[in-house]
Parts: sequence; structure tokens; C-alpha cells
Amino acid sequence: MQIPFVDLKTQYKNIKKDIDQSLFEIIENGTFILGKPVEEFEKNISSYLDAYSLGCASGSDALLLALMASDIKEGDEVITTPFTFFATAGAVARLGAVPVFVDIDEKTFNIDPVKVEQAVSDKTRAIIPVHIFGQSVDMDPVLEICERRNLTLIEDACQAIGAEYKDKKAGTMGRFGCFSFFPTKNLGGFGDGGLITCKNEEDYKLLKKLRVHGSEKKYFHDVIGINSRLDAIQAGVLNIKLKYLDEWNTRRVEIAQKYSESLKDLVQTPYVIKDAEHIYHQYAILTKDRDTLLAHLNQNGISSGVYYPLPLHLQKCFEYLGYKEGYLPVSEKVSKEILSLPIYPEMTEAQVEYIINTVRSFFS
Ligand SMILES: Cc1ncc(COP(=O)(O)O)c(C=O)c1O
Repeated sequence: MQIPFVDLKTQYKNIKKDIDQSLFEIIENGTFILGKPVEEFEKNISSYLDAYSLGCASGSDALLLALMASDIKEGDEVITTPFTFFATAGAVARLGAVPVFVDIDEKTFNIDPVKVEQAVSDKTRAIIPVHIFGQSVDMDPVLEICERRNLTLIEDACQAIGAEYKDKKAGTMGRFGCFSFFPTKNLGGFGDGGLITCKNEEDYKLLKKLRVHGSEKKYFHDVIGINSRLDAIQAGVLNIKLKYLDEWNTRRVEIAQKYSESLKDLVQTPYVIKDAEHIYHQYAILTKDRDTLLAHLNQNGISSGVYYPLPLHLQKCFEYLGYKEGYLPVSEKVSKEILSLPIYPEMTEAQVEYIINTVRSFFS
């Protein structure tokens, strides 16, 4: 059996009629940037998330726009996790601000709120918790620190669309929430795309300007912004897929539960905190035999992935920040032992069984 890490072709086949119809109309219409499909998508996703929502070009840009709207400048410190995709800290560094990395919790792989508190300094201006792999960070302590220390809270919910914490959607608890519609995400477009959420009209208006070079009236620029818009084709695809998101996330949970039930005696399986609804963007296990297990899966036709092999504080581009190996031991250990198994709604029972049996056969 050959099992890919994701299977976007099968997903497309299942909803082909609606997608083709929507794309055909957009192409016929001839408006490709922003426009009606984007407005419609923003309306739908606003009501899904219960937050002001604005499409943009990518999750990376959503982070950048959130930081710009928070007026983060050179020398400001922004606390975040080293165990995330590069974009989280990249956006901070691009503005000349300083990413301050705080270690993660060994069970959830999310930022450890106790260590966040210890990292706050006079220069700290914002915190970016990342809801890694689709599980919300334990937000109450983070919200409390932000409130008490007067810090801006920007959630990186790029992997967590539809995830919840205490009945609130991930990405709607801070001042800003950032989402990615990269094709392999739980809600993915046919190219790059992103979304930024906020809580009030003032921020919404500011973001709306920032994504079009700081202009409200064409060719008049109040502030310096960037070009970061969602295009109509992506919005057309996302409008169709959004209808299936909850159903797809539920199927991911089902698969995850099956994996965990069958593998928990062999490897560290995902730990779900009491107040969170995990949406399993990734199903990540920990094992000291990571590299040999990966090779065994490969030999048996199963693709798996290492997210992430090197934490951000040890990346070459961040050498100037002065972190050394051993500074953030949990992230470093997890990076060496983590492995993501295939998980997507289109997986068949037979595929799930085959993966379980192949992992089990490795350990026997
Ligand atoms: C945690 C996290 N942050 C940011 C991003 C950036 O999103 P994009 O690839 O849409 O720029 C991603 C997606 O890859 C992500 O997983």
C-alpha cells in the first residue's frame, strides 16, 4: 500500500463539481483580486470564527500585518515559541524587532506560560503563542500575563482553524489572530492565502488599509502598508471548502483517536489539554527511534514528516540572537524525536489500520 502524507487529489475529486463551478464563474467574471468572492468568504469566515476577518496573501503576511498594526518596531521584544514554522519569528525579525524564544511544554509542544512570565522584560511589547499542530495553547495564563503586563496578544492560529479553547475559536482570543490557507492546511486553498482576525472595528479598519499599501482612497496613502490581498480564486475555493471544515476536522479527530488507542503503549501520543478541542492539523508522536521508524514507514510505502527538525533559536539566521544548544532543552529534545503520521479526512479505515500495523511491526 502507498500512503501519501496528504492527499489533495482525493479531496478535490470529492467536491469537484462545486469547485469547478465556482472557479468557472470567477474566471468568467474577470475580477481576480479581492472583489465579491473575497467579501463573501470574509463574511462566512467571520461568522464561523465570530470575529472581524480580513483575507490576505498568506499566513506569513497575516503575522506581519498583525505586528505592523500593533506598531511593533525596531528593538521591541516579542515573545514566542522556537517550536513552530519559521514565519512566526521571521515576521518579528523582518520589522527589526527581537524574537525572544521561550521553551515549550513537553506534552503539548505549545509554549509554556510559566516560562513566558520569566521572559517578559521592559522591552517586551507582544506575545505570539502558536497553536501548534491544531491544539490551542492553554490561553488563560497567557491572556492574564498580557493583561497584567499590558502586552499585545497575537495568536498564530495558522495550523488551528476550527480548534477551540473553552468554547472560543483559536485565533479569536487575542487582539489579532493569524491563519494560513496553504494548500495542506485543514482549510487550504489552491495556492497561498491567509486571514487575519481582530476584535474591534478600529483594528479592522487599520488592517484593511495596511493590506493595500496603507490606502483607503485609491492612490492616497495614510500609513505605510504592504500589498497582501487574498485573490478571488482562493476565496472561491475556500468558500466551498469552509462548508466541510467541521466535518473534516471531526474525521481527523476520529483517526487521531484510533492512532492513539493503538499506539499509546509504544510511543508518546498527542496529549490534549482539558479545555481544548484539537483539530489535528498534524498527528505527531515522539519516539527515540524516530529516524529508524521514519525509514521503516518509508520502506513500507508510508510517507511521514518531521515538523520541525531544528528549533528556531538554533537556526543559522538567528545566530545573532545569541542562543546556544542546550538553552531551550524541551524544544531541542522534541525536535529530535518528533514524527508526524499521515492524517487527513479522506483516509480510509484500511489505510489507518495499515499505518498502525506498520508502526507496531517496527517496535516488535
Ligand atoms: C505555525 C505557522 N505559522 C505561520 C505559517 C505561515 O503561513 P503561510 O505558509 O501561509 O505563509 C504557517 C504555515 O505554514 C504555520 O504553520
